[in-house]
Amino acid sequence: MDGPLVSRYLPCPNPSIRGVGAPMDGLSALLWTARWCQGTLPCVPYRIDISCPPHDALDHLVQLGALDIEPVNDGLAAIIPDGVTPDAVAGALSVASVAVSPAVGRDNGSVWLLSPRAVRIGSVLVAPPEVAAPPDALRLTDSTAFGTGHHPTTALCVEALEEALTIAVPDRVLDVGTGSGVLALTALMMGVSRAVGLDVDADAVKIAAEHARLNNLADRLQLVLGGPDVVDGAWPLVVANVLAAPLMEMAPVLVRRVGCRGRLILSGIPWSLESEVGQTYRRLGMRHIRSETRAGWTVLVAQASW
Ligand SMILES: C[S@@+](CC[C@H](N)C(=O)[O-])C[C@H]1O[C@@H](n2cnc3c(N)ncnc32)[C@H](O)[C@@H]1O
Repeated sequence: MDGPLVSRYLPCPNPSIRGVGAPMDGLSALLWTARWCQGTLPCVPYRIDISCPPHDALDHLVQLGALDIEPVNDGLAAIIPDGVTPDAVAGALSVASVAVSPAVGRDNGSVWLLSPRAVRIGSVLVAPPEVAAPPDALRLTDSTAFGTGHHPTTALCVEALEEALTIAVPDRVLDVGTGSGVLALTALMMGVSRAVGLDVDADAVKIAAEHARLNNLADRLQLVLGGPDVVDGAWPLVVANVLAAPLMEMAPVLVRRVGCRGRLILSGIPWSLESEVGQTYRRLGMRHIRSETRAGWTVLVAQASW
């Protein structure tokens, strides 16, 4: 058996509340282990390894809500959601015990994968550098920056970008909240000449720059630390995958970055806040084109009425 057997992200419309958002360092792993020693329940998903699993282990792990399952050597590894104890896993599998270790939460702890892996979104293949992939794949390292491509907010944005680019390919794109750089780099790979990526997180800006170099796109991507208020000018295509609250807060500035008849793609909006965010932007002159919701997250596509 090769590759994952089951893989899902947590359909939690607030990734920031999931806790671990980065690969664990030594100290975090130690503290994590200490919590187990004190007998408390896990507050983040965790990894289990089972050697010689029973033939129906996969079914039981799926029933327990495993977030990812992979074959390893003579057994199985899985990521178990917090709230399900290792004893419950051992009981369901009829084994004496399971080996427990920390799991890595990617995309701010909302995507739980046993190992980095490729994901296809529309015509775009996002792949870690160590995984075999065609030459036109977008290569992203396993980093702390949001934007692996596995999260629905990113996927919805990539799809909306692809749709926008089938209508017309603008000469430049503005990516607000660039994270790993995934959206700006996708736009460049799809034929947009230049991109500007903004992020308030200095680490994300550094990681996006590394990704631009890795994909030979550094000369076409300009990265700036800050929000839409730190740049001047207007773009024919603007994409912003940040949460609903910052989207509403930055709305008056963000719309000024959208050029004449320009298109704006907004993502990271919990479905329940779609109408509030949509109304905020409509009041500022953005005409609603379409919305799409996946796993509780909505993407809004709008066009400037000016
Ligand atoms: C959900 S991630 C999106 C990453 C990537 N664009 C994607 O689609 O996967 C949101 C990013 O926006 C950044 N961010 C949050 N508020 C921001 C703001 N006001 N201006 C610019 N970036 C912001 C965060 O640091 C984070 O990297």
